[in-house]
Amino acid sequence: MKDIQKTQAVFRLVILISGRGSNMQTICQTFKEHPNIEVTAVISNQSDALGIEWAKHYGYETAIVEHKNYANREAFDQALKQTVQKFNPDLVILAGFMRILTPVFIDTFIGKLINIHPSLLPSFKGLNTHAQALKAGVKYHGATVHHVISDLDAGLIIDQAMVEVAPDDTQSSLAYKVLQIEHILYPRAILKVLNI
Ligand code: GRF
Repeated sequence: MKDIQKTQAVFRLVILISGRGSNMQTICQTFKEHPNIEVTAVISNQSDALGIEWAKHYGYETAIVEHKNYANREAFDQALKQTVQKFNPDLVILAGFMRILTPVFIDTFIGKLINIHPSLLPSFKGLNTHAQALKAGVKYHGATVHHVISDLDAGLIIDQAMVEVAPDDTQSSLAYKVLQIEHILYPRAILKVLNI
């Protein structure tokens, strides 16, 4: 994997979202005054993503690449890649970006493309991670920030955070607990991956 440049004064982050974007908001707020980090753009595959409204409201540059306008995943990934490249990012951050990416996109950004997944990987890859955790009866659950490679949720782990599963937890109570720790984990993992 390519090493992220460590000599650079300001690291440019591009954040990809599909929905409410609470992780994106936390990242923007955490690094608002940071001298070495700039959120350069927030990009969504959904024009009605709530997070895009938030980002616009707070003056962040935004872009939309609607997946439904493209014939297949590769065509969408090509368009998304071109849009992301315009912002010349040092780090591309998937934060609730709900599209599976192909090598057309991944290979371009490999080493500087990261994701947050709501489980302690390698347990519970894919969707419905809180239901998977409850079904398995685990006592601890959590979230993982990892590098993105073509194998789903299988890239090198950067950082993880854990929550305790209570006997009366439901999917929604667990989702809430995990989201709270994601908001601490993601900014911490970004600093780690940028080596600052
Ligand atoms: C988070 O739980 C994240 O782990 C998963 O999607 C959710 C996104 O939430 N990949 P938000 O859009 O950041 O609020």
